[in-house]
Amino acid sequence: MTASCNRPAPLPDRSVRPLALPAVALLAALLGACSQPQQGDPEARASRIEPVAKISLKVQKVAPGSRTGEQIYQGTCAGCHAAGALGAPKTGDAAAWAPRIAQGFDTLTKNAISGIRQMPPRGGGADLTDTEVRRAVAYLANSGGAKFAEPPVEK
Ligand code: HEC
Repeated sequence: MTASCNRPAPLPDRSVRPLALPAVALLAALLGACSQPQQGDPEARASRIEPVAKISLKVQKVAPGSRTGEQIYQGTCAGCHAAGALGAPKTGDAAAWAPRIAQGFDTLTKNAISGIRQMPPRGGGADLTDTEVRRAVAYLANSGGAKFAEPPVEK
């Protein structure tokens, strides 16, 4: 749809595709109820609804114990490590990770499990198993230049 298309139109179909969960339908109903009928840019309305659909998809849980390092990283570790919050060694920053990596995989994992200074135990992911923390440490440290083998997820 182009920006020059100002004609009012019903909500585009893609907001009610099968991926849309009940929350999206509810939001769509609320938006419909609150705004004047046929008013507002449907593109803008769709983009307001879209984030809800994305969040709903993320909520789909993977059973504890079988999450990959990347999944754990995204869900738990990125909060601090992506931006280097609280002095955390930043994801992908080889200079920050080199002295950490030099301590060895076991020490890094032990510190990540018990917590170290500003980092809470398991990065705050209380339901992470030791093996899952190990996977996440491998994923994170490897982003900074390590070559640790991430323990495989058993099927
Ligand atoms: C609340 C913020 C926060 C979260 C969430 C967090 N970390 Fe950290 N992490 C830190 C900080 C801060 C440090 C640096 C601690 C220090 O050495 O002072 C750190 C350091 C580390 C280190 C280096 C430890 C060492 O011995 O040098 C590893 C490995 C690590 N984090 C892994 C993880 C993993 C894996 C996760 C997710 C499961 C995670 N962190 C989540 C804040 C966080």
